[in-house]
Amino acid sequence: MSDPVVLQVAATPASPPLVLRPWRMADTAALVEVSRDPALRQWASSAVDSDADGERWVRAQQRGWAAGDRFGFAVLEARPGSDGERLVGNVVLKEVASGKPSAEVGYWTAAHARGRGVAPRALEALSDWAFDAFETDGLERLELLHQVDNLASCRVAQKSRYDFDTILPAAPPAFPRDGHLHIRRTGA
Ligand SMILES: CC(C)(COP(=O)(O)OP(=O)(O)OC[C@H]1O[C@@H](n2cnc3c(N)ncnc32)[C@H](O)[C@@H]1OP(=O)(O)O)[C@@H](O)C(=O)NCCC(=O)NCCS
Repeated sequence: MSDPVVLQVAATPASPPLVLRPWRMADTAALVEVSRDPALRQWASSAVDSDADGERWVRAQQRGWAAGDRFGFAVLEARPGSDGERLVGNVVLKEVASGKPSAEVGYWTAAHARGRGVAPRALEALSDWAFDAFETDGLERLELLHQVDNLASCRVAQKSRYDFDTILPAAPPAFPRDGHLHIRRTGA
C-alpha cells in the first residue's frame, strides 16, 4: 500500500466527524496518556507505561503496515472550535494474509470518548475498507473476539453487525474466561 490510508467517518448529532489514519510517532504522548485507563489495560491488554513503550507500540503498528499483515489506525476526532484533532481510539485489522478467507478486528476507545459510538462507527469504516481492499486476496469474513463479561465490547459487535457465532473456551493465562466469537461476512 503506497499512500497512507485515511478513512473519514461522518459526524452524528452526539459526536464530531472521525478520521482514521495509520499510527504516527507523534501520537506517542496521547497514546501514553490514554493507556493509563484501567479498563484499557484490562480489556485491550495494553501495556504502554512510558514514552519508550508507546514508541515501541507505534513502531509495531508501522511494521504491520509494511509487512501487510496488520493495519492499525489511530482514530481522531475534530475538536469543536479548534484546528486540532484529539486521539479518541484505535481500530486494527490483523491476521491478514493473501488467500486467507478470514482476518480479525480489534478496537479500543479512550475513556474520555466512550459512550458516543466512536468504536462502532470506526469499526464500520474499518470493515468496509477491509472487504474492499482485500477482496482480491480472498477476504470473506471478519472475526471479532471478546471476553464474555466485556458487555460494552459485545454491544459494539452487535451495533456493527458482527453476528454472534460461538462461545470460545477460556485459554489461560492470555484468555482467563470464555469468549464470544462474532463474525461479519462480506456484503452483510
Ligand atoms: C468496548 C469499547 C471499545 C466501546 O467503545 P465506545 O466508543 O464507548 O462504544 P459505544 O459508544 O458504542 O458504547 C458501547 C457500549 O459501552 C457502554 N458505555 C456507554 N457509555 C459508556 C461509558 N461512558 N464508559 C464505558 N462504557 C460505556 C454501553 O454499554 C454501550 O452500549 P449501548 O450503546 O448499547 O449503551 C470501550 O468501552 C473500550 O475501549 N473498552 C476497553 C477496551 C476494550 O474492551 N476493547 C475491546 C476488546 S474486545
